[in-house]
Amino acid sequence: MQKLLIFAILFITYITYSSWVYTRGTDRASIMSSHQELGKQIYQEYNCQSCHQLFGLGGYLGPELTTVISDKNRGELYARILLENGAIRMPNFHLSPKQVNALIDYLKYVDANAFTYKTDGK
Ligand code: HEC
Repeated sequence: MQKLLIFAILFITYITYSSWVYTRGTDRASIMSSHQELGKQIYQEYNCQSCHQLFGLGGYLGPELTTVISDKNRGELYARILLENGAIRMPNFHLSPKQVNALIDYLKYVDANAFTYKTDGK
């Protein structure tokens, strides 16, 4: 009788814990807006990934861009200037202001979803 009781307690604990874990949801990623989607297309069209990495994937001539927007030493304005003018090794693609805005918006999306790339408070 005692064994049955222990089994029942363990079973109920297991069911309760499992349903708690599996209903909480782990996917915190947000949905991409159509403007951000446009930025993603431009990113692919201009082959930005041949020089840059997002989430560690891409070329290594240019810097990692996953958190370029929230980075204390870089940020949106810096990214915008680079996109509008190019730099020594970063080509100037002569992008329209519309394209630049979409690219920045896409980079914001990437940044906002880069949970594992950020350490809290740093
Ligand atoms: C030929 C390689 C190359 C391509 C293609 C390229 N970049 Fe870059 N990019 C660079 C390099 C290198 C830098 C660093 C600045 C420098 O040395 O000129 C840079 C810097 C940047 C920066 C500033 C971030 C930082 O940490 O310096 C942003 C934002 C950026 N690139 C976005 C883009 C986007 C968006 C595209 C596609 C439209 C793109 N790049 C295509 C090479 C490239």
